[in-house]
Amino acid sequence: MTDSISITDNRTGETIEVPIAGGGVNSEAWSRLLPGIWFNDPSFGVTSGADSAVTELDGEEGYLRYRGYPIEQLAEKCSFLEVAYLLITGELPNDQQLQSWESEIAEAAQIHENFHKRILEGFRDDAHAMGVLVSAVAALSTFFPESREVEDSTNRRNQIVRIIAKMPTLAASAYRRSVGTPYVLPDTDFNYTANFLSMMFRSGEVPFEIDPVLQRALDLLFVLHADHGQNCSTTAGRVVGSSHADPYLAISAACAALSGPRHGGANEAVLRMLEEVGSYDNVGDFINAVKNGERRLMGFGHRVYKNYDPRARIIKETAHQVFEVTGKNPLLDMALKLEEVALADDYFVSRRLYPNVDFYSGLIYQSMGFPTEMFTVLFAIGRTPGWLAHWDEMLDQDSRIARPRQIYIGQPERNVEKIELR
Ligand code: CMC
Repeated sequence: MTDSISITDNRTGETIEVPIAGGGVNSEAWSRLLPGIWFNDPSFGVTSGADSAVTELDGEEGYLRYRGYPIEQLAEKCSFLEVAYLLITGELPNDQQLQSWESEIAEAAQIHENFHKRILEGFRDDAHAMGVLVSAVAALSTFFPESREVEDSTNRRNQIVRIIAKMPTLAASAYRRSVGTPYVLPDTDFNYTANFLSMMFRSGEVPFEIDPVLQRALDLLFVLHADHGQNCSTTAGRVVGSSHADPYLAISAACAALSGPRHGGANEAVLRMLEEVGSYDNVGDFINAVKNGERRLMGFGHRVYKNYDPRARIIKETAHQVFEVTGKNPLLDMALKLEEVALADDYFVSRRLYPNVDFYSGLIYQSMGFPTEMFTVLFAIGRTPGWLAHWDEMLDQDSRIARPRQIYIGQPERNVEKIELR
């Protein structure tokens, strides 16, 4: 049996054979054999946009692996910075490599004083944290003009460290600005996640105490969010990066894509949905509204996962550990009920809709004291190493600029009339 597909062009009667490579059809072979015939796949449902060695996921089998390691093992055994190192370099660090990676990141966490004064202070008081983050990451580009040398791999690595290091500082600063409390500087005595919590919640000169369960839970959530193949935000970052724009602008584009409620913004939307449902008794009516197409069940469904999102299973377990410390989130029962009703309903079963990573994460964030508007920012901190790993991989591959075709559906050629005749 040949690993190829035969297609007959009924206009000419000619049959061509297209080789199957890596489970798909290579566009180069296709365009050589069928010049002028495009795929029309606007949501990339059947289009592979990259050759990538970063993350493997299988929606039917329900697994997710970073660089070959199952997400369950990484979640249990590794810190977020270990996972970030893995995503960027391809291998888990040894002790010494981890120590120097942690110090490199800790030392790069500061942001310039002018950044606070001139950029963050310029936003409206009620500016959404994701809007601030997108703009803040883009603004960093102006502080590091050498980052434009994207073909220099050493320079790329320096920017990768800076961006991973500065995301929590930007995120916490965006929050502090919105609530009007003084910025807290990064503290190199803390690890990555503890330092972020300190910059978020430290008050005055009182020593900052962090509950180890909560710190570990947040670190684990970062691990679970760290990468997910060619998702919408990673693709946005890659498309911008393919023009050789600098990494701050590419990552800013990724953050912008993440902010939408169909993607990372879903964690915020889930919380707002649970609050809107309001009471256990309204669950049935809400599910009916979803089935009638009036609403979407936020935190449900996924383009790739069709059985269960393996991250959602781990997050659900983590939620229970967090609630033992913080007390149960009052919205948990409603979330559990929504899940139970949906999973027993043919609408959701037949469409293979299951809870995704965003269904329970917001409940944890809320119980830890994060305001709803910060939820997607937390997702962004976690996803940053993944975005950067894909950006770096793409530049290493010396890939071409991303430039899809379109099928034109507009007017045929026509003449411009004088304005008084229009
Ligand atoms: N609630 C109700 N119906 C849904 C939902 C949902 N959450 N998701 C999909 N459907 C229906 C959809 O209406 C369609 O029905 P029909 O065949 O009758 O037209 C069918 O299921 C297939 O859905 P689709 O829109 O073709 O699926 P997609 O792959 O284009 O979209 C999705 C995937 C994640 C955008 C979508 O499931 C969704 O909007 N979910 C809610 C938002 C959400 O939780 N997003 C987070 C995704 S996971 C983390 C991340 O990527 O950031």
